Amino acid sequence: MQTIRGFRDILPEQIWLWQKVEKEATSLFEAFGFKEIRIPILEKTQLFARSIGEVTDIVEKEMYTFEDRKGDKLTLRPEATASIVRSYIQHKMYASDPVRKFFMIGPMFRRERPQKGRYRQFYQIDAEVFGIESAYIDSQLIFLLNELFKRLGLTELSAHINSLGCPECRPSFQKALLTFIESKKDRLCENCLRRIDKNPLRILDCKIVDCKEALKEAPATLDHLCGDCTEHFDTVKTTLNQQGVDFTVDKSLVRGLDYYTRTAWEIQTTTLGAQSAVAGGGRYDGLVKELGGPQTPGIGFAIGFDRLVEVMEQIDKPLEDVPLDLFIISLGDTAMEKGYHWSCQLNQAGIRTEMDFRGKSMKALMKRADKLNAQSVLIAGENELKENAIILRNMKTKEQVSLTVETLVPELIKILKK
Ligand code: HAM
Repeated sequence: MQTIRGFRDILPEQIWLWQKVEKEATSLFEAFGFKEIRIPILEKTQLFARSIGEVTDIVEKEMYTFEDRKGDKLTLRPEATASIVRSYIQHKMYASDPVRKFFMIGPMFRRERPQKGRYRQFYQIDAEVFGIESAYIDSQLIFLLNELFKRLGLTELSAHINSLGCPECRPSFQKALLTFIESKKDRLCENCLRRIDKNPLRILDCKIVDCKEALKEAPATLDHLCGDCTEHFDTVKTTLNQQGVDFTVDKSLVRGLDYYTRTAWEIQTTTLGAQSAVAGGGRYDGLVKELGGPQTPGIGFAIGFDRLVEVMEQIDKPLEDVPLDLFIISLGDTAMEKGYHWSCQLNQAGIRTEMDFRGKSMKALMKRADKLNAQSVLIAGENELKENAIILRNMKTKEQVSLTVETLVPELIKILKK
């Protein structure tokens, strides 16, 4: 049996980088006032269709959707924002305090064509902020991302930012876009043509080279911003400059989800080939209302955890395996029973202890202790038990001490905890 295409195991020898990132991200989120939230992996399909947008690649062709036994249409979450917004509304969090900051880490599912950096089950580190309209929070989230990547030792990353405007300025932009698209119609793919009436903004996100070429000179949202959106974007840029965060204004950045308004950004790397976005995010001031809550501004981002780890693998050296504190060599049935109880008590005390239950010879057990990189071994054979003199040998210095059964565990804790 093999994993299904686009799904993979993350094995114990790879996990240290994942844990390093989780630790760093969690402590940074907490310092910035974020609280962890855990959301279901399965939601009603409708939630994603309405938030991400019916006419997007994710909803049209990438979701794992099925009907359960009662005929309800369900989907494995392709992202976390929609679910966190649903939770914010469902639990009426806005009533007691509309300002909330959440983070979550977990798997997402999209049926994309798998390649390096792109999987069908992948992981995101996601952060969302509700109830703050100020542009300072936009800057703060980009600053936070920048700080996290810096702490992880990543420097080959660049922030691309854009403003996608608001319902006030969208109509003027859409009009200009439609006029432009009309003049390039003969060069666009079927999918783009189909989207002209349904969702023209999505055409700007087409990955086909010919379409990209035809749309090179397409109008940009940035040239159609209203006064408030211009001011908002100016504050974001000024603040990032004041904080020394490098960024590039990228007029062509549109993001693949429909809910964005105003600031949108991606953190890109040059080291992962085609899959260049390590993180993406933006503001979504209309989404809470769209999903049935009161008008509440929202903003957030998600880091592609798999991609982040792949970038880190290029610079981080794996940690050496943590050595074992003690290997217990028990020879004979009585020693085996005693050894079992000692090892559990030592494990309880936080001492990494192992033993072998297969009744192997002294020679084989010494070999095993070596393989597990044991710092010390405890030798308990029939003779040692009879003479009440259990031997503790330091594998590095080869020094030996003799311990009595009655005080063995507290003595070992004293010696090995040093
Ligand atoms: P997104 O751009 O669709 O945004 O995904 C965020 C990140 O997830 C991407 O930049 C990428 O690193 C990673 N990612 C996406 N698809 C895959 C895949 N198939 N394999 C590996 N990594 C992948 C969102 O999901 C939004 N919910 C972000 C957000 C939060 N916006 C506001 N709040």
